[in-house]
Amino acid sequence: MPKLTIDGTEIEVAGGTSVLQACEQLGIEVPRFCYHDRLSVPANCRMCLVEVEKAPKPVASCAMPCADGMIVKTTTDLVKRARQNVMAMLLINHPLDCPICDQGGECDLQDQAVGYGFDHSTYNEEKRAVTDKDLGPLVETHMTRCIQCTRCIRFCDEIAGVSELGGFERSEHLEIGTYVKRAITSELSGNLIDVCPVGALTNKPYAFRARPWELQTTESIDVMDAVGSNIRIDARGNEVMRILPRLNEDVNEEWIDDKTRFACDGLTRQRLDRPYVRRDGKLQPVTWDEALAAIAEKLRGLSGQKVAAIAGDLADCDSMFALKDLMAGIGSPHLDCRQDGATYDVTQRAGYVMNSGIAGIDDSDCILLVGTDPRHEAAIVNARIRKRWLAGGLRVGVIGPKLDLTYPYQHLGDGALALGDLLDGKNAFAAILAAAKRPMLIAGAGLLARADGAAMQILLSNAAAKFNMMRPDWNGFNVLQNAASRVGGLDMGFLPQGGMATNQILAAAEQGSIEVLYLLGADEIDMSKLGKTFVIYQGHHGDRGAHRADIILPGAAYTEKTALYVNTEGRPQLARQAVFPPGEAKEDWKIIRALSEAVGKKLPYDSHHELQRRMMSKIPHWQKLDMVMPAPWGNFGREGEVGSSPFALPVKNFYLTNAICRASPTMAKCVEEILSPATAEAAE
Ligand code: SF4
Ligand code: SF4
Ligand code: FES
Repeated sequence: MPKLTIDGTEIEVAGGTSVLQACEQLGIEVPRFCYHDRLSVPANCRMCLVEVEKAPKPVASCAMPCADGMIVKTTTDLVKRARQNVMAMLLINHPLDCPICDQGGECDLQDQAVGYGFDHSTYNEEKRAVTDKDLGPLVETHMTRCIQCTRCIRFCDEIAGVSELGGFERSEHLEIGTYVKRAITSELSGNLIDVCPVGALTNKPYAFRARPWELQTTESIDVMDAVGSNIRIDARGNEVMRILPRLNEDVNEEWIDDKTRFACDGLTRQRLDRPYVRRDGKLQPVTWDEALAAIAEKLRGLSGQKVAAIAGDLADCDSMFALKDLMAGIGSPHLDCRQDGATYDVTQRAGYVMNSGIAGIDDSDCILLVGTDPRHEAAIVNARIRKRWLAGGLRVGVIGPKLDLTYPYQHLGDGALALGDLLDGKNAFAAILAAAKRPMLIAGAGLLARADGAAMQILLSNAAAKFNMMRPDWNGFNVLQNAASRVGGLDMGFLPQGGMATNQILAAAEQGSIEVLYLLGADEIDMSKLGKTFVIYQGHHGDRGAHRADIILPGAAYTEKTALYVNTEGRPQLARQAVFPPGEAKEDWKIIRALSEAVGKKLPYDSHHELQRRMMSKIPHWQKLDMVMPAPWGNFGREGEVGSSPFALPVKNFYLTNAICRASPTMAKCVEEILSPATAEAAE
């Protein structure tokens, strides 16, 4: 533990701490461009110069490890002059673009030029111009503004795991660009915009649409997958202009994937902004009273046994809770939050959440991925596994399709036979798992959604037991859910109450014994199976469910309501309202509350606060927002035959997994410019 003095204050730091990090610990600001907390240290911008006693010249503090007895000064005239000169050099070639630059107002170069630069330049040379590069539909380039800090190259190499960016030429002619002229193929590419300290890499869909000081910021969470990434929603007026990551070390660190960041332009398109009722085969706009009265009329005298409800992947806990209460009032036992048709055993919470937590990946030394593609089901979780692999000492085994996961792994097989071999010790990876100190198993939600999902659970929990994954200090059994609503729905029991599950509901609808089906944003079910069933669709986008509906009740998207979501770890988090729902659309719990009154089964809460109080009293582990309550271990699964068919993956197209993405022009461009060329290349 070296002890050093910085600006007269003594500090003791952990071995390997850099002088820049020690300054941060003391709250001393050191300007920097190339240094980034989560990337390697190239020390190429020289902005972080400080004076170290006995050193012949100023040193780059980001690359200088602290040593015992070191005396560091950060405010001397020498340091000030050194930084001014670095700044002047950086600005030799920088354009005077600030008034038209999207980075204006949140630019490190602007800020540091004001804080550490000269008010004039001694250089009169011509500025160089650099051709812009095409990085695809998400990241706009203005390469003349590039200060060659190489953060983007390091992000691609180290975090995203796609070595597609590099430096070309040398010295004055150095340019940053792609090795092959094509769009960046990472699903994390939007983070390049955040790591670039200047306006060289900016948000393409957001280009020239708003200035930072016009935006209203709301802290919220993402619902594009089950990670629950912490986000910041920037809105102008009633329009979401952009989405940025928020720091949460336990969940998404400071990254978000491209769907989370860029699908927000789908929030203003194909919106359901008024109620509709189908008359003479056509959806006709009606008032709220007419829509609710039409439902009440349909339900009058109908047995609850003929009514069913399915909740979709974006449904929030509050509305599912209210709908569950309403279904109980109507007397229907047929409800399900698993539109993928899963029927595995959910009596034990430990059997459907990620018990070790996303941050637990950092502690693991051996990971077995079973029937999952974390890169496309939860890109942030995949990035965490890659980070752990980069740190060294991690072994990864995969049972399922062979994929490019951005880190090396041992492919053990593509189906349940390989899992059986592992359990019997026939596969060499069994010895690696057995020797691991913190072994981890991550099973995909798609795997459990198979018809043999419950029997598969037994195989998986046997594997967890055999390889010592459940201990008082460690639970390495994990299910990686891929729908934002799933863990919340399972926690509250939005499940058959002695009635039918999704596939049975669909079969009953097809043959006519379910007469009314309530779809709470459920768009991923097979609509062709609904026969003549009367369909009530409550949701925010004119997607598959709305097309089939007989009555449409327009609800709010996740940016338009304050509501609870529980992520794949079982972490309850609050999405907060950033804008209002469009037109006559309403927050979802309110719609269900109003409907309950119309059908004469009034729900016992008049305000959101009352609803949340009731929710928290019924599900106590939701009371601690943002925290994960460890799920007690118990037996789960059902004995049965496990099929030998290869494991299939649930996410076929990363960019189009829900109604918001499908309405997003940017996601459509991603399919066209990133996915299609990559698929064609793979097929060659
Ligand atoms: Fe101005 Fe920063 Fe843009 Fe450069 S990158 S033009 S300093 S706002
Ligand atoms: Fe740095 Fe941005 Fe240039 Fe990349 S594009 S080297 S991140 S300034
Ligand atoms: Fe230290 Fe760039 S931040 S050299």
